[in-house]
Amino acid sequence: MKEKKIYLAGHKGMVGSAIHRNLEGKGYTKIITKTLDELDLIRQADVETFFRSEKPEVVIIAAAKVGGIWANNVYRAEFLYQNLMIESNLIHSAFQNGVEKLIFLGSSCIYPKLAPQPLKEESLLSGYLEYTNEPYAIAKIAGIKLCESYFKQYESNFFSAMPTNLYGFYDNFDLETSHVLPALIRKFHEAKESNCNSVTLWGTGTPKREFMFVDDLADAIVFLLENVNANDIYSKEISQINIGTGEDLTIAEAAEIIASVVGFEGVINYDSSKPDGTPRKLMDVSRLHNLGWNHKTSFREGIEKTYKWFVENKI
Ligand SMILES: NC(=O)c1ccc[n+]([C@@H]2O[C@H](COP(=O)([O-])OP(=O)(O)OC[C@H]3O[C@@H](n4cnc5c(N)ncnc54)[C@H](OP(=O)(O)O)[C@@H]3O)[C@@H](O)[C@H]2O)c1
Repeated sequence: MKEKKIYLAGHKGMVGSAIHRNLEGKGYTKIITKTLDELDLIRQADVETFFRSEKPEVVIIAAAKVGGIWANNVYRAEFLYQNLMIESNLIHSAFQNGVEKLIFLGSSCIYPKLAPQPLKEESLLSGYLEYTNEPYAIAKIAGIKLCESYFKQYESNFFSAMPTNLYGFYDNFDLETSHVLPALIRKFHEAKESNCNSVTLWGTGTPKREFMFVDDLADAIVFLLENVNANDIYSKEISQINIGTGEDLTIAEAAEIIASVVGFEGVINYDSSKPDGTPRKLMDVSRLHNLGWNHKTSFREGIEKTYKWFVENKI
């Protein structure tokens, strides 16, 4: 695989940059990257020209229009349109140019709101989606089905991987738009810096969530690249593979660990008048484990690395 010409779409994002580091660390040298300014993946003709001239042999799709709950709910048209365009242009051009292997990344929001926990791959399309991010999820489901359809009709070696909640370097630490973990890191850091002796978090702290260090996700993607093919993924009921740790913890447990890593010694209060969200969200990762991959980084270790990066980069 190391001799292959790999196009990594979205290499500047949190996920794409982690995959880039992992590939480089393993000795991959033929990695093609393009910034948004150099190649806007929404533009079909530009994507077609790029594939005809560069002729990548492998494609990894970590480019997407991504955001938190607020952005997903407000910019519904952009999330649906841009993600449909990005994945359609890339997957179809990959097919037209005989790409040997393609991995498409989505997220756990593709699963129905009330699907049984832990979330199994078979739960896809078994119920209603969460309304707030429905446009994003619909686009990602279309991408999964596009990969599956090129495999079923033309035997293209294209498949999709669905990561759990991720955190790590290059995450979004903006309190207005970030996910829960980077927000907790910033809140505890700012409380410590300003000698504040209490921090109040939204909700009761009891919901359980699964979190994965993004460098572990990157390692899983490169494992799939090197060891797994489309015919290992698909069956009558299964169209994609989950990636996660298979372990969850309560928001209160996560907060305690983050506070201790940051060195915040004050009191953590919970504002139970604020919404909690779904009580539990955990991926079933038994298929990934059966293929031979397990995560390596404990939650505490991942937070220590992320906090060090946050402080050094003064985000
Ligand atoms: N973050 C998570 O917790 C998480 C969890 C599960 C799955 N995922 C999945 O992982 C993938 C990447 O997420 P991320 O968190 O890494 O997002 P991100 O940090 O926002 O990165 C997305 C990348 O896509 C690029 N991009 C967006 N629109 C583009 C366009 N029209 N043309 C070219 N490039 C474009 C962005 O370029 P610019 O930097 O120039 O804007 C950026 O490099 C997504 O499919 C997401 O669903 C993420």
